[in-house]
Amino acid sequence: MLFKQQALLRQKLFVLGSLAIGSVLYLVARVGTLDRLQPICPIESRLPPSEPEQIPLRTLQFKRGLLHELRKGNATKEQIRLHNLVQQLPRAIIIGVRKGGTRALLEMLNLHPAVVKASQEIHFFDNDQNYARGIDWYREKMPFSFPHQITIEKSPAYFITEEVPERIFKMNSSIKLLIIVREPTTRAVSDYTQVLEGKERKNKTYHKFEKLAIDSNTCEVNTKYKAVRTSIYTKHLERWLKYFPVEQFHIVDGDRLITDPLPELQLVERFLNLPSRISQYNLYFNATRGFYCLRFNIVFNKCLAGSKGRIHPEVDPSVVTKLQKFFHPFNQKFYQITGRTFSWP
Ligand code: A3P
Repeated sequence: MLFKQQALLRQKLFVLGSLAIGSVLYLVARVGTLDRLQPICPIESRLPPSEPEQIPLRTLQFKRGLLHELRKGNATKEQIRLHNLVQQLPRAIIIGVRKGGTRALLEMLNLHPAVVKASQEIHFFDNDQNYARGIDWYREKMPFSFPHQITIEKSPAYFITEEVPERIFKMNSSIKLLIIVREPTTRAVSDYTQVLEGKERKNKTYHKFEKLAIDSNTCEVNTKYKAVRTSIYTKHLERWLKYFPVEQFHIVDGDRLITDPLPELQLVERFLNLPSRISQYNLYFNATRGFYCLRFNIVFNKCLAGSKGRIHPEVDPSVVTKLQKFFHPFNQKFYQITGRTFSWP
């Protein structure tokens, strides 16, 4: 009898416990959903004091709600019409440089309520097949946005591909162009590391960085090696300047975006004529990752994927010095043209 009562009591406790846990889980999920779909927590209190409002705050609410759903293809035509959503051609493009921090820059700019990112690299202007599909194909690749928002895409191959400046000019001659650069030797090693990882994944062997970067016949820097060529920023920029005035470019310091992103983002906001909206609240340092991560609101935050921030192989210091010397005159020219100086060796 006593056993029976105890069993009954245990059963009741189990049911009550399950109900309590279930309710808590439901509430957590619900708060998450609410925050994404119809934020109840006043967004104003989370933003720094600002100048007269130019961007409706509802935009922020929709950014993690409706626009997200739309991207997943869940929105109805009625919702699109009702909210006056459009797919707009980009008004700014992050054209490069590969391994400069292009993904981090795009994701961080996307924190701004007036910016909507194209998540994928579209490769419209550098890929002949895509380009042949025409501008409407490109537009259809763009995310939904409100008419007052600006769409930004990034495809780092644009910076180094010969045909791209003319093609972008034909689409929009007043487009804003963002270039994020890192110290050229570090960037080249980062580029190498990415390719190396791809080879290793396919169980392929690959040369050491030193062997690729230095011509074994001449012992000089191997300018045929793509990772070296990409880091000669001024050579590529000069091709772009045949089409666009220098004022249409903004250079982002990719090394500072890693260590102290906010000031770099504020410079971009200014360049894009956007009110300053990205704040320290939106960026927090994650010690485990060793990088800044993004905070959209109290519920939603994210770090970049593990493929961003790889450990670089050690490179022979004499090769590093040789490369730094090689890049030096090109860097000087780059500073001169862009008006942005870095403390690269
Ligand atoms: P490494 O992998 O060499 O460290 P891209 O997006 O153009 O491929 O650039 C990748 C680089 O972005 C990474 O290079 C990393 O250093 C840099 N980066 C800048 N900010 C970052 C961030 N917040 N999280 C992760 N990587 C970041």
